[in-house]
Amino acid sequence: MNFRILFVLISLAGSGCSENANVLSQKEIQAIQLVFDAAEQTPDVLEKWSRSCALCHVNGEGGAPRMGDASAWKPRIAKGNAQLMVNTVRGFNRMPPLGYCMDCEDNDFAAMIKMMAGIDK
Ligand code: HEC
Repeated sequence: MNFRILFVLISLAGSGCSENANVLSQKEIQAIQLVFDAAEQTPDVLEKWSRSCALCHVNGEGGAPRMGDASAWKPRIAKGNAQLMVNTVRGFNRMPPLGYCMDCEDNDFAAMIKMMAGIDK
């Protein structure tokens, strides 16, 4: 899917259409989960990952959970896939918005998160 659902959701949340900008509705969670389920690792995803996320998520820069470090990812996975996607797009503490990948689409982010966190679905 060549589209950023998250950007749309986030801009709606900021415009007063949503009751609470920080809480995702069930519909939003389901929409993001569909993107998440469909996302696949491809050479293009790996290429984007290696010039963005990898900068921090290989060495744990700034406290970033490392690629494949199950115990570091466990509490993050517990937030739900949708929340991880939103935090990736918006940025989260020392994690920069879009994780430095300006040309990533939602499905790229989903594939990268699945890969780093070891999530099957
Ligand atoms: C400049 C360094 C940096 C880059 C680049 C970066 N991250 Fe992060 N990331 C972090 C840090 C630091 C944290 C931990 C933030 C915290 O928990 O306070 C983090 C946390 C995360 C989390 C967990 C968020 C949560 O809610 O717990 C996800 C998911 C994530 N990054 C995905 C990505 C993806 C995908 C990319 C590439 C597109 C990326 N990051 C690029 C530094 C980075």
